[in-house]
Amino acid sequence: MRPSAVVFLCGLLSLGCDSADVAPAPPSSDTRGPGATIDPALRYAAMCASCHGEAGEGGLGSRLVDSARSVEQLTQIIDERMPQGNPGACRGTCASSIAQYIKTRFTSQALSCATVAPSARRLRLLTRREYRATVRDLLDLPAPSTPPTTPPGTDPSCGRHRFAYSPPSAARSVHVAGSFNGWSPTAWPMTWVEGVREWQSERELPDGTYQYKFVVDGSQWVSDPRATASMPDGFGGQNSVLTLRCADAGAPAPAPPGGVDPVEEATRSLPVESRPQGFAFDDNADTALVTSVHVNEYLRAGRSLTAAVSSRLRAVVGCEASADRAACANTLVRGFGTRVFRRALSAAEMQRYGALVTGARDVD
Ligand code: HEC
Repeated sequence: MRPSAVVFLCGLLSLGCDSADVAPAPPSSDTRGPGATIDPALRYAAMCASCHGEAGEGGLGSRLVDSARSVEQLTQIIDERMPQGNPGACRGTCASSIAQYIKTRFTSQALSCATVAPSARRLRLLTRREYRATVRDLLDLPAPSTPPTTPPGTDPSCGRHRFAYSPPSAARSVHVAGSFNGWSPTAWPMTWVEGVREWQSERELPDGTYQYKFVVDGSQWVSDPRATASMPDGFGGQNSVLTLRCADAGAPAPAPPGGVDPVEEATRSLPVESRPQGFAFDDNADTALVTSVHVNEYLRAGRSLTAAVSSRLRAVVGCEASADRAACANTLVRGFGTRVFRRALSAAEMQRYGALVTGARDVD
C-alpha cells in the first residue's frame, strides 16, 4: 500500500504538486547517429540512477537534489568523472544535457511530486499486530477476552528505560550511545546520583532490541556491566544489548479461559518490528526486511495455526468436501477467498483457485 500512502502524504505535505510546478524536461539537443535524440532522462536512468538514485536522492553516489552547483560546474564534473568508474561514457553534450536535467528536475519540490509516480507494486511485511488481526479474522479465532490489565500507556515503566552505570573510578561525564541515538557520544548525557552513587539516565524507548555502550569522559567506550546480553562490536569489544518488550510482556497475558490463545502462541516469537528512534508507527516498510528468522517464524506460525484450526477446518473454509467437490470448491473460493483477498475474486481467479481445490487429493 506504499504508493497510495505516499500519494496521500504528498497531498498533505506538498501543496501545489501539479504538473505545472515541475519544470519541463529540457529539450535534448544531443544527437547520436543521424536523427537519434537521446533523452537525458533515459541516459540518467541508464548510467547514473544506480548510484545517485532514481530521482537524484543519492545512494552510492551523492545526493543531487537542489545541487548548489551551476549547470556548468555539473557538466564539468560529469564530463571528467562520471559515471564513476567509466568517466568517458558521458562527455560533451551527454554531460551538459544531464547536468541541465539534474538542475531542472532534481529540485526538492519536483522530487516530492515526481517520486509519487506509481512504481511497481511493492509488498510490505505485515506488522505482528496486523498479522495477528489478519489470522484471527481469516481463521475465525477471536481474541480472548482479557480481564482488565493496566491500559497501555499508563504503566509508568512502559516505553521507558533507565540506564545506570557506576564507573570503577570517578568520571567527569558519562553518556549513553547506541543504536537508538545514532551512537552519538554526546546526545544522551547521564546524571550523577549521589544517593546511589551511580550515573543515571531515563529515556523513552519504544519496544525493540538496541545495542549501546557508555561513553566515559567523552572518549572511553565501555559496555554495561549490568547488561543481560551483549554482542561483538566489530572492534574487538562488546556492545551491550537491551531488549524491551513492554507492549507484549508488560502485562503477561493471562491464560484465556479455554487455555492458551492459539494466535498468541503461534506468533509469540515473531521478530519485533524495528522502529527508528521517535518514529510513531510500527509499520515502517523500509525497515521491515524479511530475514531468515522471519521466514522460519512465519512458517512455524503457519503450521501452528493450521494445527489449531484443523479440527474445525471444514467450518472455517465453509464446505463439506465429501458431498460435491465442485460445489465445495465454489463455496470455499467464493467465501474464504473473498476474505483472503478482501475483495470479490474475478472469474479467472475463481476458476484458478477452484481448480486447485477440485484437483487436490482432499480438501484439507
Ligand atoms: C558507480 C557509481 C556512480 C555512477 C554510476 C555515477 N556516479 Fe556520480 N558520483 C558517484 C560518487 C561516489 C560521487 C562522489 C564522489 C565524486 O564526486 O567523485 C559522485 C559525484 C557526482 C557528482 C558531483 C556531486 C557534487 O555536487 O559533488 C555529480 C554531478 C555526479 N556524480 C553525476 C553523475 C552522473 C550525471 C552520472 C551518470 C552519467 C553519474 N554521476 C554516475 C558515483 C557514481
